Amino acid sequence: MKFNGSVKIIERKQLQQDVFQIKVERPSMIEEILPGQFFNIVASNTGYPLLRRPISVSGYSADIIEFTVKVLGTGTQALSEYEVGETIVLMGPLGNGFEQKVEKRVLLVGGGIGIAPIKGLLEQLAPQAVSSDVILGFRDEPYLVEMFSAHASSLTLVSEYDASYRLGYVTQPFIEHIEANAYDMIYACGPEAMLKTLAGICNSRKLPIQLLMEEKMACGIGACLVCTCKVKQGDFGFKHVRMCKEGPMFYGSEVIFDAD
Ligand code: FES
Repeated sequence: MKFNGSVKIIERKQLQQDVFQIKVERPSMIEEILPGQFFNIVASNTGYPLLRRPISVSGYSADIIEFTVKVLGTGTQALSEYEVGETIVLMGPLGNGFEQKVEKRVLLVGGGIGIAPIKGLLEQLAPQAVSSDVILGFRDEPYLVEMFSAHASSLTLVSEYDASYRLGYVTQPFIEHIEANAYDMIYACGPEAMLKTLAGICNSRKLPIQLLMEEKMACGIGACLVCTCKVKQGDFGFKHVRMCKEGPMFYGSEVIFDAD
């Protein structure tokens, strides 16, 4: 059931200069949350900025919901200024989230702040008998490494600039992983260019990949149509769907990226 109301912030952690994590009390009326779902959060109690921000769940338990947020503009800046003990207004869980089937071996790929929902997924897979290889791409210094190390079967950290990690983008280690292993499912979240590349690689090899699309949203409930993307329909057609409602998870085989 969807919740729309105030919750109390019970923990706040700075992970990097522009990345922070908050934990809020989980309202008892929320029966189920799926990894990859998001909440639309009122950015500030002052009323500005007006629009809510869609923030993916990066973890949850029976008592808490956790969000990991990167400051990208006024909304996320305002969100970063909430303190422990304050209340925050949010609505959710929204969207479809990742689809979990019966899987034995999976590959998880996160790029930038796209690692947040991947963290939530890995934590849910951890108690199951699933072997999870993880590739994470960062611009510079990685964060949340301890958690990923604790739960992943293997962890590959890729940095664009920091030579203490594998230099470059996630694409090369991704190809190495799929050539060396048979995965039942691949899950990815990150910048659109990354998702487009991974989907292209998987589609050409007929590998299943679930993409969690990050897109500008407003209402979060399918009413305003600012978040549409194109997906295939039949053999040759396409249709527009709302990322907040029909997504944000789509299979790589169905999404039509711009300039495709
Ligand atoms: Fe309004 Fe998706 S954000 S329709």
